[in-house]
Amino acid sequence: MSSKDLHGEVFYPSEEVVKNANVPDWDALQKEAGEDYEKFWGKRAEELHWFKKWDKVLDDSDKPFYKWFTGGKTNIAYNCLDVHVKTHRRNKLALIWEGENGDMRMLSYYRLHRETCKFANVLRSLGVSKGDRVTIYMGRTPEIVMAMLACARIGAIHSVVYGGFSVEALHERIEDSKSKVLIVSDGAYLRGKIVPLKQIADEALKRAGGIEHVLVVKRTGQDINMEDGRDLWLHELMALPIATQNCALEITDAEDPLFMLYTSGTTGKPKAILHTHGGYMVGTYTTLKYVFDIKEEDRYWCAADPGWITGHSYIVYGPLLNGATSFMYEGAPTHPYPNRWWNLVEKYGINILYTAPTAIRGLMRFGDAWVNRHDLSSLRLLGSVGEPINPEAWKWYYKVVGNEKCPIMDTWWQTETGMFMITPMPSVPLKPGSGTKPFPGIEMDIFDENGNPVKDNEEGYLVIKTPWPAMIRTIYNDPDRYVEQYWKKYPGVYMTGDSAKRDEDGYIWVIGRVDDVIKVSGYRLGTAEIESALVSHPSVAEAAAIGLPHEVKGNAIYTYVILKQGVEPTEELKETLKNHVGHEVGPIAKPQQIKFVDSLPKTRSGKIMRRVLKAKELGVDPGNLSTLDES
Ligand code: PRX
Repeated sequence: MSSKDLHGEVFYPSEEVVKNANVPDWDALQKEAGEDYEKFWGKRAEELHWFKKWDKVLDDSDKPFYKWFTGGKTNIAYNCLDVHVKTHRRNKLALIWEGENGDMRMLSYYRLHRETCKFANVLRSLGVSKGDRVTIYMGRTPEIVMAMLACARIGAIHSVVYGGFSVEALHERIEDSKSKVLIVSDGAYLRGKIVPLKQIADEALKRAGGIEHVLVVKRTGQDINMEDGRDLWLHELMALPIATQNCALEITDAEDPLFMLYTSGTTGKPKAILHTHGGYMVGTYTTLKYVFDIKEEDRYWCAADPGWITGHSYIVYGPLLNGATSFMYEGAPTHPYPNRWWNLVEKYGINILYTAPTAIRGLMRFGDAWVNRHDLSSLRLLGSVGEPINPEAWKWYYKVVGNEKCPIMDTWWQTETGMFMITPMPSVPLKPGSGTKPFPGIEMDIFDENGNPVKDNEEGYLVIKTPWPAMIRTIYNDPDRYVEQYWKKYPGVYMTGDSAKRDEDGYIWVIGRVDDVIKVSGYRLGTAEIESALVSHPSVAEAAAIGLPHEVKGNAIYTYVILKQGVEPTEELKETLKNHVGHEVGPIAKPQQIKFVDSLPKTRSGKIMRRVLKAKELGVDPGNLSTLDES
């Protein structure tokens, strides 16, 4: 790509946007943070409530196991709710919710606090206490927010499993986390149908031990199996005297674990990324405030799912820490028609909309008329996350949705980073497809194979050189893997797993993953998960999965399967295998294509060379083949 192509057009914010922004002078903030990032974060932390102030902002005595705000005592749930209930925000809406079927709920800070406290008392009555893990597998309803906050309030560690995952994915995550309690909805509405979450959970629990109680949230009301002694209805327990709205708060250390969230890595099983109360709180609070420019009267909508990091940081914690009003929608963007989202923006007067390129491309397909039917003049800011946004989608979002007046915050970050890392703020000139520059206080670079910074406009590995408060603390129960995966290639430097370029203005252009992670519709999946789901089918001997470009999804999954001897390679079997992956991992992991093959390209040590498969499909040079086993 020539530097001219890289630059493309530059979009400058209007004077009004700059004047009203929480950060009108980005350079000044960069300078302040660049001079002393510990002081910078310490100052932001002071805006939140601490029962005891920290002794040290950053403790780097045991790198790469960094600790933030050590000695500090706080609780993120207290900062999300109790703090606001004591102010003019008591009756302010914390959450506005619409179900796919048109149900509607509005919860003030007071009410969300009350319900969360009751929920937390219910969890305590089931024996959950500080440090215990609780798995949450639910649709997008206010109860998922309450469940997460209730865990945080009592110091339990939540492990949310995205409702789009299925039996084996849920089983693995329950087992690895050693959760005592599972919170599940009976079902969730999606595209006019019910996703049978409780039924999937029942199947997963047949494979996993350890769960003592299943707390069931009624959403759809369809018939479900309730196992005596194990399964309990939340609404029944919430009606009992134990569920009072007074719930003693667990005062947590800054470094006490808040949650674990499973994500896919280079090899093997998904790993649980661990985040903590103090640093994560400071990071999500500050980034949301500055980047999405949260104002008291705003209605902010992050259209992600709470089951992914975007939802954790920017549906649940970030907005509530800022005392904002958030909107949440349960279902599909196109149900019952492709104007559902635009209708919601108009109906609720949304000011800030944050979504993923795949959703934008998906809605763009239906044409401008669906958008233009609606008055979207309430919108002030737009956001994008999850994968690189192609300039065509960027411009459509900017022109048709934002009416050329809403800056687009293209935020690059990861489950591991917990918070935005490369991102503009509203006052920053934008180039479609670039997230601009690192957030103040964060130093990033692009390295070649040997750890030297690459020249402008050259591709290399994206790395992070300074610690940041919301950073991953470890992989739960696997500290060696944490060191190996992120800190080994370049000692002392965090390896993101992405490739990127930087142009001569210092703008970073993220290209994509360089490992075996596939981003499908912005969702992060590992080739290993898809492959092991295929191999778990009795007719499959071996399998390989790769991602290939897809117009709407960004990437689609292509798989190569060696069948066991004697098994007929039929079209019907391909369908069976696709459905099997859907059943085991989840509908998002269903391969677009299955090819039956006799062999797979492997290294002499037996590792599948996925890049060879990919190069063949794309008709490009596969690169160095010296390790290919051609026997
Ligand atoms: O490849 C990058 C891509 O998403 C990866 C992280 O995925 P996950 O942990 O699921 O978190 C997604 C939401 C924060 C990154 O390694 N990615 C995320 N945001 C962007 C992006 N790629 C390009 N531009 C982005 N804005």
